[in-house]
Amino acid sequence: MKKLLIGNWKMNLTSNQALQLAASITSPSDEWQAVVCPSFPHLSLVKSALSANVKLGAQNVSRETFGAFTGGVCAEQLKDIGCEYVIVGHSERRIKGGESKKEVFEKLHRALEAGLKPILCVGETLEEYTAGKIATVIKEQLDGISFNESLIIAYEPVWSIGTGLIPTIDEVEHAISLIKQVIPAPVIYGGSVNSKNSHTFKNLVSCSGFLVGGASLNAQEFNNIV
Ligand code: PGA
Repeated sequence: MKKLLIGNWKMNLTSNQALQLAASITSPSDEWQAVVCPSFPHLSLVKSALSANVKLGAQNVSRETFGAFTGGVCAEQLKDIGCEYVIVGHSERRIKGGESKKEVFEKLHRALEAGLKPILCVGETLEEYTAGKIATVIKEQLDGISFNESLIIAYEPVWSIGTGLIPTIDEVEHAISLIKQVIPAPVIYGGSVNSKNSHTFKNLVSCSGFLVGGASLNAQEFNNIV
């Protein structure tokens, strides 16, 4: 499998800005697959502007299939418009959106059923990190998931997201090995990744790529990460 460079644009950009950014993303070297995850309204537009070897992902998906779920977007709809990936259980959705583990798992299953590749986010808060609870948190967040060859796990320490703080390479390696003890899926790292610090993790054999937030909103910065 190629290493993944995934841009999570979150709830940013107008349609024109999304179009411009999409058109400026270049495909990294052969070892890497670039993926961008714009907001729902920009998915089709962005797809039309991406170069053929940059893939499309969504930031969220409903736990339901088609039906009377006002405001929902189901996995089949994402697949239908050309998404290959979907982020599931991002800490912003778990913490700010109140998503339970049960809901996250249901979304994961819907995504897999529809033939999408889910990127399941796990990671500890600052409080849990300080209390030395990384292993407990990771095991708890993954407990009950079965292996699927389409599944990707993103290790995203909550305290690192959008803060500029990054764990040491040993901490990331340790977290990845804890995840792989539970589920032998590819694991990517996310949390304040940018073109200046990515070299730290780039050659970490167990790390299968990056999930990038803030730095993915600037094409030059994103293109320079790998
Ligand atoms: P960040 O976000 O790169 O801005 O820290 C990462 C994420 O939320 O996936």
